[in-house]
Amino acid sequence: MAVNKKILITGGAGFIGSHLVRRFVNNYSNYHIYNLDVLNYAGNLENLKDIEHKDHYTFLRGDITNEVYINSIFNAYKFDAVIHLAAESHVDRSIKNPLGFAKTNILGTMVLLNAFVSLWKNDWKGKRFYQISTDEVYGSLGATGLFKETTPYNPNSPYSASKASSDHFVRAFGETYVMPYVISNCSNNYGPNQFPEKLIPLFINNIINKKPLPVYGDGNYTRDWLYVKDHAMAIDLVFHRGKNHEIYNIGGFNEYKNIDLVKLLCKQMDKKLGRDFGTSEKLITYVKDRPGHDLRYAIDASKINNELGWAPSLTFEAGLSKTIDWYLDNKAWLENVTSGDHMNYYTNQYADI
Ligand code: NAD
Ligand code: DAU
Repeated sequence: MAVNKKILITGGAGFIGSHLVRRFVNNYSNYHIYNLDVLNYAGNLENLKDIEHKDHYTFLRGDITNEVYINSIFNAYKFDAVIHLAAESHVDRSIKNPLGFAKTNILGTMVLLNAFVSLWKNDWKGKRFYQISTDEVYGSLGATGLFKETTPYNPNSPYSASKASSDHFVRAFGETYVMPYVISNCSNNYGPNQFPEKLIPLFINNIINKKPLPVYGDGNYTRDWLYVKDHAMAIDLVFHRGKNHEIYNIGGFNEYKNIDLVKLLCKQMDKKLGRDFGTSEKLITYVKDRPGHDLRYAIDASKINNELGWAPSLTFEAGLSKTIDWYLDNKAWLENVTSGDHMNYYTNQYADI
């Protein structure tokens, strides 16, 4: 099929990005998908082995903060649309390296916005900048309530502040340069290919290796979990049918306290590994809390549900089971990404256990 749109997906070798790139490459042969990624510790081309040979897919290795390089690829390829996921994404790392997060997440987004505006400012027809954001920009909820699209931004970590700032720039470019944009704010994702620094894959890896499970604080923090492929489906819908200058919240309708999630994970893992019931729970170790730890996130996803007909396709139990199976079937992937630099991060982050 002839290509009628060139789409730049940034961060496409990372966790969510790789699921999105695969979905777009497999579903839209009329698009040429350019995947731009610097391949930091979380970016991994192994995630995309199955689609890398396709003619309407191109991988570009580069840094979104490199203005000369970014301008050169926008001028060379003339992307009709950008779906922007590239970011430093881990809250704990942002506490240790806030400046690095500001550089990538704020400056990097601005470099992309500048390049996009320079290219199309006189003719925006059919163009769109899609910013992939997070529910963390809204800050923390108390025991009740949900994040709505109208909830004021109130970020608490350097990571969420950098994402909030970049969202503001996207909106400002929309107002100032009439750039067509859309933003979605999603809750916690889980699933295959997630780097094992985040709660679920870290704990799966530790259970496999019979290492302690470091639960921060009292474990009573709540997150709203969504299977990554359901997020990719939501992004697809928002990209194609969302309205310009609108925000869409995406969530799993699936709140879990960390400690309850960890206990469910332990149960499923004991069964799959053929270990006695209760074996993995004994690995739970309460450790010092994350500074500025947000108590609770929960998304009101009724707008995307009502307007675009999106809803999660899996229950959490089913999604978690599929996720564990993927990690057990892909031990080489896990061993590969946890060797080398990751061990330095791990030893430093979890020095107390
Ligand atoms: P990830 O860390 O797995 O992937 C990020 C990707 O961006 C990596 O491939 C990395 O190499 C790339 N990258 C980092 N810095 C770059 C740079 N300077 N130039 C080019 N590429 C660079 O992250 P993820 O969990 O897949 O998150 C993707 C996006 O979705 C982020 O913007 C994040 O804020 C957002 N998000 C994540 C979640 C979640 O639960 N993981 C939820 C909501 C929103
Ligand atoms: O809400 C969306 C966000 O979800 C995304 O924007 C971020 O990119 C993503 O990293 C994620 O942020 P969290 O901080 O919520 O995810 P994380 O997996 O790091 O932690 C989930 C919860 O588990 C949180 O309450 C902290 C806790 N935790 C985490 C780790 C890594 C622990 O108790 N122990 C741990 O070792």
